[in-house]
Amino acid sequence: MLHKDVDSVLISQEKLEKIVKSLAKQIEKDYNDKEFMMIGLLKGSVVFMADLMKKINLDFPIDFIVASSYGSGTESSGRVKIVSDLTLPVTGKDVLIVEDIVDSGNTLNFVMNYLMTKGSNSVRICTLCDKPDRRKVPITVDYCGTEIPDEFIVGYGLDYDEKYRNLPYIGILKRSVYE
Ligand code: IMP
Ligand code: MG
Repeated sequence: MLHKDVDSVLISQEKLEKIVKSLAKQIEKDYNDKEFMMIGLLKGSVVFMADLMKKINLDFPIDFIVASSYGSGTESSGRVKIVSDLTLPVTGKDVLIVEDIVDSGNTLNFVMNYLMTKGSNSVRICTLCDKPDRRKVPITVDYCGTEIPDEFIVGYGLDYDEKYRNLPYIGILKRSVYE
């Protein structure tokens, strides 16, 4: 049943499964002969990454970074900081960042630079959703699940004010919740 704060379903569970499977296949092919490391940006990527990694039939370590640019609103503040850092070294590693959604690009721009200064060999981005119309900083997305319109979405890891992450689908949040 649809959550009372959700206006409509944008990506159903079935569609999400298809998207994740297709991304996993591409990643498996590209990283087949590489020693790569998967780094999730918490907390939004947690559901997506859990599903994605299960479908990639290679050996690879995972790690997480918590970066924050949002307050409790729906707009990026533009000031990104690392709230919780990596536990593994990334020096010389081919890194694949897993993100829930790219919006302004501020978060990924910061995190990519951060990983490069830590000595990664390469940094690529895998995002479930992309809102290209909202970009303020140019970002190359290497693996994109789906482009979405400029709406505020929740579910499958994505939150508004720390809620709705547990919804099994991605839905458009009712404007009355945040306006
Ligand atoms: P950026 O730094 O503006 O690209 O913002 C990226 C981060 O903002 C994502 O990791 C999400 O946590 C959050 N975000 C952006 N758009 C949405 C949305 O529609 N729903 C939920 N979170 C979002
Ligand atoms: Mg968030």
